[in-house]
Amino acid sequence: MAGRLATPRQSWRDVVLEAKDAPERVPRVYTRLAPVYEAWARATESKSRRRVLELASVRPGEDVLEVATGTGVQLVRLARANLGGRTVGVEISEGMLAQTRRRLERAGLTEEVEVIEGSALELPIEDESVDLLVNGYMLDLLPRDDIPGALAEFKRVLRPRGRLVLSNMTKGERRRHRIWDWAYGRGLVLTANCRGVLAAPVLRELNFVGVSREYLSQMLFPTEIVTAHKEGR
Ligand SMILES: C[S@@+](CC[C@H](N)C(=O)[O-])C[C@H]1O[C@@H](n2cnc3c(N)ncnc32)[C@H](O)[C@@H]1O
Repeated sequence: MAGRLATPRQSWRDVVLEAKDAPERVPRVYTRLAPVYEAWARATESKSRRRVLELASVRPGEDVLEVATGTGVQLVRLARANLGGRTVGVEISEGMLAQTRRRLERAGLTEEVEVIEGSALELPIEDESVDLLVNGYMLDLLPRDDIPGALAEFKRVLRPRGRLVLSNMTKGERRRHRIWDWAYGRGLVLTANCRGVLAAPVLRELNFVGVSREYLSQMLFPTEIVTAHKEGR
């Protein structure tokens, strides 16, 4: 099962491996990884980060939220594209928050961008206040049962017609891209604790509209980029 995409008769729950790490451990793990995380991300995620920005097509003056800012690379890019708008980042790990804040300082963006410590499962953000929500490589860390909860929370904060751009480690679509999930299934955690997930079927279950998915790989690491928006006039 581990290497396969869901067939029409299967649920995403049948093919996505269960998360190995307890969610309460994740912030500590990422605080430990924070000083070295960017080297991994550059090697495996730089292509997808660029594509996410293209698909996000930020319109200056928007309310933009990034959830799970990590080292802050994408948050800086979003803020630069969102001149005159409001850009906010939410992140759960203290170590990653410190990286984000440092990067914003170096970019001279501390006044323009607000960074909040918080969880995707209970966002410290008002209902229907966000035009664009970006989230990268976080759903692939959550227990299966928390994935719909996080996406429902994203939906709560989006305005009607608000846009969502997700990137996740996903199920490998070529044999050699499955090496990471193969290792994860055998207890070899090589991927900063993430495993392949499928967000599009969950978004459809939650009645997001215009759900669309692209697949890409970098260093054999399989990524999905999923875009959708909240229903509304
Ligand atoms: C693999 S890193 C990705 C970071 C960044 N989005 C990127 O693409 O470089 C995953 C990030 O998700 C954060 N995270 C994990 N669970 C979270 C949660 N429930 N709420 C907010 N952030 C979370 C981690 O602390 C970590 O910074």
